Amino acid sequence: MFLEYLEKFELNNAPNTLFQFENNITSKTKIKTKKINDIEARYYINEFWTSKQRQASSLHEISYRACFKPQLPYFFIDKLTAENDFVYDPFLGRGTTLIESALMNRQVIGNDINPLSKTLAEPRLLIPEFNKLKEYLSNIPLKKGLKAGIDLSMFYHPDTESEIVSLRNYILTKEKNNELNEFDKWIRMVATNRLTGHSKGFFSVYTMPPNQAVLPERQIKINEKRNQKPEYRNAKELILRKTKSLIRNVTDIQKKRLKSRHKTAMFLNKDARKTSEIPDSFVQLTVTSPPFLDIVQYAKDNWLRGWFNGVNIEEVEKGITMSKTVEHWINVMQEVFNELYRITKQGGYVVFEVGEVKNGKIKLEEYVIPLGTKAGFKLLGIIINEQKFTKTANIWGVKNNNKGTNSNRIALFKKGD
Ligand SMILES: C[S@@+](CC[C@H](N)C(=O)[O-])C[C@H]1O[C@@H](n2cnc3c(N)ncnc32)[C@H](O)[C@@H]1O
Repeated sequence: MFLEYLEKFELNNAPNTLFQFENNITSKTKIKTKKINDIEARYYINEFWTSKQRQASSLHEISYRACFKPQLPYFFIDKLTAENDFVYDPFLGRGTTLIESALMNRQVIGNDINPLSKTLAEPRLLIPEFNKLKEYLSNIPLKKGLKAGIDLSMFYHPDTESEIVSLRNYILTKEKNNELNEFDKWIRMVATNRLTGHSKGFFSVYTMPPNQAVLPERQIKINEKRNQKPEYRNAKELILRKTKSLIRNVTDIQKKRLKSRHKTAMFLNKDARKTSEIPDSFVQLTVTSPPFLDIVQYAKDNWLRGWFNGVNIEEVEKGITMSKTVEHWINVMQEVFNELYRITKQGGYVVFEVGEVKNGKIKLEEYVIPLGTKAGFKLLGIIINEQKFTKTANIWGVKNNNKGTNSNRIALFKKGD
């Protein structure tokens, strides 16, 4: 049924009232077949989702390296699950799949080897009431003259640094004493996201976008080149400003729903190959995108976020899959697929999104097909979402090789017939 939906899919005819279009564009699905390792793979190519079709929840607006757009999980959750089904992401990142699933009233499970992932995702299920948060934040004492212990003077004005260190000490002490409440978790999540960035909405002087903190030496050079010095930023004010922006289009019903989904939510901090906490035949749908070879430095890019959260990022790095070769990547992902097969319900699905790596020279989806089928899944097809480019910026080498388009490449599997 889903394949028929893909085949007949026309952008301006999408049978979903949430889809809105500016122009009367029609795009029919192109279908191709290709034999890969004796498996006949059917490719479905279309513009199945774009950010224009359906505005995403503002709650997703947390930056993270190589995250996907919420429209991607929405497309599959909507068609392949019902309310209360379990949806899982073994490579959770900022939590796009998890937040979108909870907004759609599904039960959620997320896993990531990096503990920062839970720090970023969980609080968004427990959105605090704005005025209560404001009051709570105003009561957190901010001391003057505190230093980070590492030199952060190239990023922060001394008074801002002291505010950040005060917040950090407050939160880490509460964490140590097992006393973190939903306000603390929310504040920690927002502050983590405000540490560095390229506008006045961040604690730092102008630097790279927030998902990739540059090293101090590099920041010194940026400051020299731009002839800039960190100005004072009011940390509490910026936390409240970002809070407002994150919750700006979340309805009260959604807030309630997210809270209730938190009650049954499972957050794991494991290698995706070994998630024994998840029972056999449990998950209806997995929507995920794995680490792409060694292109994205998930740990290094997060060094400052790690510092703020008291996370030893070098330790985390050891567990992150950073494959220098496709062979290594395949070996790890085979084990991931075996694990996904174990936890997937009969009749359940896996949506595995891979980027176009090394300018499209490496088509990871072709490698993924035999991995899924060897684990026991049936390949339903390869779905390529071709989206018109709006931004040319693509700094992590995961991008499209066709000028003017931006695509997601997805292998779709089913357990059972
Ligand atoms: C492409 S990102 C996922 C982004 C996510 N789809 C989102 O929208 O934020 C891949 C994630 O896999 C995590 N990771 C890398 N190796 C892992 C492993 N062996 N087990 C579990 N997680 C891993 C990284 O920490 C990173 O967060």
